[in-house]
Amino acid sequence: MNRRSFIRTIGGSGLVLAAGGFTLTGCDQMPDSAIAPWNGPSADIGDREWMLSYAMLAPNPHNMQPWLVDLSIDSEITLFIDPTRLLPETDPFGRQILIGQGTFLELLDIAAHEKGYRADISVFPQGEPAAGTLDITTTPVAHIKLTKDTTLTSDPLFAHITERRSNKEGYEEKYLSGGDLAALSSLPLNEGEKMGFAATADTIAPLREFARQAVLMEMKTPRTLLESIERTRIGAEEIAKSPDGIDLNGPLFWWLKRLDLMTAEKAMTPGTLAYQGGIDYAMGWVEGTHNMGWLTTTDNSRAAQVNIGRTYVRMNLMATAQGVAMHPVSQVLQEYPEMEEIQTAFLNHLQISGQETVQMFYRLGYREAVSPSPRRKLPDIVMG
Ligand SMILES: Cc1cc2nc3c(=O)[nH]c(=O)nc-3n(C[C@H](O)[C@H](O)[C@H](O)COP(=O)(O)O)c2cc1C
Repeated sequence: MNRRSFIRTIGGSGLVLAAGGFTLTGCDQMPDSAIAPWNGPSADIGDREWMLSYAMLAPNPHNMQPWLVDLSIDSEITLFIDPTRLLPETDPFGRQILIGQGTFLELLDIAAHEKGYRADISVFPQGEPAAGTLDITTTPVAHIKLTKDTTLTSDPLFAHITERRSNKEGYEEKYLSGGDLAALSSLPLNEGEKMGFAATADTIAPLREFARQAVLMEMKTPRTLLESIERTRIGAEEIAKSPDGIDLNGPLFWWLKRLDLMTAEKAMTPGTLAYQGGIDYAMGWVEGTHNMGWLTTTDNSRAAQVNIGRTYVRMNLMATAQGVAMHPVSQVLQEYPEMEEIQTAFLNHLQISGQETVQMFYRLGYREAVSPSPRRKLPDIVMG
């Protein structure tokens, strides 16, 4: 979360914290253990473990890292969804969770190549889960068979896996350069997938407004707000214990927590610093949005959801290579009743109809890189 937004909020609310508090360093840094996975795996682990360590760096909704892998058969991996890591309020049909399986599979595939393996990936080997339910955890998402293949060449995107971020800060007031737009547009798509961009003053304005309305709707709907609050880790101690979810750290949050200003109850109560801080933070990224992109699929099948996750992370890696920041803003796509009206207007605006589904909607732009988000350790996702 953007620390500066919170500082502004504190100014705006007239709350004065000991000035020294903000400059105090060392009291609450991001714990090394939580971001150590971004240094890459050690060379002495098994090949499957090596690939999976890269796969775990995949972008995924609310950083819940909802992956489980069965490694009981040599040279094979079976991927399942962790039933304890779903987002039932904002993702009632598991669509986003499945996209976050696709991002994992794509990084696994790229890393397998790097290690000299062909990964034969079958998505939903025992059939797709039904549409329109959250019953997505009982069948495997994918089966992967690894075969050594000396003819494989390395994927140039591999080099960007550990640099990739979801950059949630406000971006510079600049439109995407023709070169960057052309590079991103050249990303190969699977059948039925399409991409769109808004990178001019006229086209971005209405989309920024949809993003604003949608994030405010999520925040004023108590159960969807609570879902985020329950997954927020504040301060180094909580992040080290649970290196997942939404992480807030640094001296400012350390002080707010110590002063009892960041409790879940406060974050749920309009008028408090914690509640207003959340809104101000979101309005900060809304204002700092000058380019957006989206990915659609012709139908909303479970396989289409997984496959678009693969495409999305490739775009995120390609953007990283180009020096373009990316940040998914999914609120307007979420399938709960309070969002329906805003979503319908958004889809009409983009002229999306019938079965065609906007699967990812994201900000694009220029901004210096941010530090990585926490990750759990590989043994946390290995079954058995
Ligand atoms: C399907 C999907 C939806 C996402 N939606 C949002 C979102 O609405 N807001 C947001 O800030 N980040 C969103 N993200 C980004 C995640 O929060 C991010 O991937 C996660 O925190 C891990 O951070 P990283 O991508 O920097 O590794 C989404 C990611 C995925 C794959």
